[in-house]
Amino acid sequence: MSNVKLAILFYSTYGTNHQMADIAAEAAHATGAEVRLLRIAETAPEAVVNSQDGWKAEVERSASIPVATPEDMAWANAYLFSAPTRFGGAPSQLRAFIDTLGGQWYAGALANKAVSAMTSAGNPHGGQEATTLGLYTTFLHWGAIIVAPGFTDPAVGAAGGNPYGYSHTQGTPFDDKAKAAIAHQTTRLISIAEKLAV
Ligand SMILES: Cc1cc2nc3c(=O)[nH]c(=O)nc-3n(C[C@H](O)[C@H](O)[C@H](O)COP(=O)(O)O)c2cc1C
Repeated sequence: MSNVKLAILFYSTYGTNHQMADIAAEAAHATGAEVRLLRIAETAPEAVVNSQDGWKAEVERSASIPVATPEDMAWANAYLFSAPTRFGGAPSQLRAFIDTLGGQWYAGALANKAVSAMTSAGNPHGGQEATTLGLYTTFLHWGAIIVAPGFTDPAVGAAGGNPYGYSHTQGTPFDDKAKAAIAHQTTRLISIAEKLAV
């Protein structure tokens, strides 16, 4: 039995990162790890959400998924974040959640845990790497152990070659190459977390 407790935390406005998190969860379950699929709370006003059909639809699609809490961060010994690119960085919804973790950071509760991140953007060069690296800066403050995919599997290159973490261009299909890259990033994270947890 695996000693890994993986929290997959996603924020998604239109569903892309929700799909990425679902693909990661399927790969994670197959390893025998304990997995919590969690959504980051929406902070935009309801009127704004409801003004866009795509946004409203994602809120409805994800309604049954538990909202991530600091307790989930304490429970897990591995974290996989997935969030879209917003003006070259992570969305405010995810930053707001991260900003609730000060007490856990202070207590060292986020240190030595394995972490990885995925993102998406509207454009292939619209800031995908910048978003992931920006999140990694935060994880360094935690003392977490960043587990980027690197080029440790041909799946990374086949899906566009982002060694920092899988990134998806919104509107393109989740083909077998995308699924393999997400699965590789997830299973690599779990395998490193297994070693850290012993
Ligand atoms: C406020 C806002 C800012 C955005 N900034 C960028 C950006 O800097 N670069 C880019 O390529 N796409 C940008 N996008 C597009 C999003 O990255 C894209 O909609 C997202 O990756 C889709 O993921 P989701 O379906 O999980 O929400 C932006 C979208 C919004 C609404």
